[in-house]
Amino acid sequence: MPTATPSTPSSSNVGRGPVPLGSGTAVVGLQWGDEGKGKVIDLLAGSFHAVVRYNGGANAGHSVVINGKRHALHLIPSGAFHPGVRAVIGNGVVLDPDVLFTELDRLADAGVHSLDLLVSDRAHVVLPWHKAEDAAREAGLASGSSGSIGTTRRGIGPAYADKAHRAGAIRVGDLLRPASLREKLARISVGKERVLDALDPSGGVRGSLPSVASLADDLLRTGERLKPFVTDTTYALHDMLARGHGILFEGANATLLDVDHGTFPFVTSSNCSVLGIPAGTGVPGVHLKRVIGVMKAYCTRVGGGPFPTEQDNEAGNRIRERGREYGTTTGRPRRCGWLDLVALRYAVMLNGVTGIALMLLDVLSGFDEIRLCTAYRVGGRMIDRFLPDAETLAEVEPIYEAVTGWKDEIGGCRSRDELPPAARAYVEMIEQATGVPVEIVSVGPDREQTVLG
Ligand code: GDP
Ligand code: IMO
Ligand code: MG
Repeated sequence: MPTATPSTPSSSNVGRGPVPLGSGTAVVGLQWGDEGKGKVIDLLAGSFHAVVRYNGGANAGHSVVINGKRHALHLIPSGAFHPGVRAVIGNGVVLDPDVLFTELDRLADAGVHSLDLLVSDRAHVVLPWHKAEDAAREAGLASGSSGSIGTTRRGIGPAYADKAHRAGAIRVGDLLRPASLREKLARISVGKERVLDALDPSGGVRGSLPSVASLADDLLRTGERLKPFVTDTTYALHDMLARGHGILFEGANATLLDVDHGTFPFVTSSNCSVLGIPAGTGVPGVHLKRVIGVMKAYCTRVGGGPFPTEQDNEAGNRIRERGREYGTTTGRPRRCGWLDLVALRYAVMLNGVTGIALMLLDVLSGFDEIRLCTAYRVGGRMIDRFLPDAETLAEVEPIYEAVTGWKDEIGGCRSRDELPPAARAYVEMIEQATGVPVEIVSVGPDREQTVLG
């Protein structure tokens, strides 16, 4: 008889009727990404049994700063620095094995040797042809009139497209079945070569790919290394919930990049809002008790797409330099602008946010005046609704309210009372505009630079 492990369904009453509900908390980005989700997850993770990624892939770049040392995570959940907290990669993730292994090695270098990692056998695998196709499609779009999406070129869109197409997809579970994997790769590669030749008739893109035989060998080695971590994470998570354990869901990318609810087509290819949690983990929404919406004190965006409050000027440059607004994944300079309360209210509504983590407030120190967008003017009318369609959003004119800034640096503040009055008023304005309490104010990248409550 095999021994039941905590992740097998037979070890509890999972699936056998009503069970005590463990509680789920979600941490989700409310803007266009890079809001500081990594820091918030790291702050909270110690009180949870597991941290779970439910969407996206290595397009995410989540920074955790501990004692001044910066760690960037792309696939492994940002709770990794807390011993005993399980790290779960759910079925909704598209997994690039090379990135995962590099990250595991880097964590080991940082002293994290025994990560309790679970990887869904149903997560989809990002393959070299996905990255090649991503780059080739972007190059094609860049030469057209509407411009490129500005993807991270991590193969995210093509990998999710193959998931939807079904026949061209490889899942983590496939890496553990050598004979059928070789057969599938041989079949799929024929179609991939056609697609890549159509995108790049010079043959250069296709020529950069490994042969099917060496890809299969490589993926089988990957499978061997992944094997100890691979499981049915849906059952594993339900088992944890049945035991009353707390689970933290880590959103990657962010609400305004959500494929259904973001600024389409300038979005990523997954449901990054909390709406992606049930599909991306198998855990229904009823378990979600708390949603922490993470936002910057201003807005940034990387890649293309409308950004009504963008400041392509001195104010934007000041935010970029003070906030070190350069991509964690690609190093690209981020576009910067004022806080958009219309977009923020939309994101709060979509996610059912129960509390806000307001990040990077320290970046706004030193501005004489700070602006917030409170409404849009479109076709001569004032509206307070967000317009997620990219072409429509590109037409809006932001209406601003100006508030007085504060001079002092606030990186050393540890309570709301210590913040300058104008900074406190800014926090209260956000609470008033959204109707949601700001539970965390972050005044610097380090764990300690945090104001609670
Ligand atoms: P994520 O993708 O949402 O996890 O965010 P990123 O890690 O891509 O980008 C956020 C950046 O802001 C990182 O460099 C963080 O170290 C940094 N950061 C987080 N909170 C604060 C803060 O309160 N103040 C400052 N100055 N930097 C912060
Ligand atoms: P984190 O989790 C910021 C953006 C890309 C591009 C668009 C599509 O660190 O907040 P993709 O490679 O996903 O097909 O790119 O989405 N994007 C992000 N921007 N932070 C992210 O993740 C992002 N993930 C995707 O810049 O505009
Ligand atoms: Mg990031």
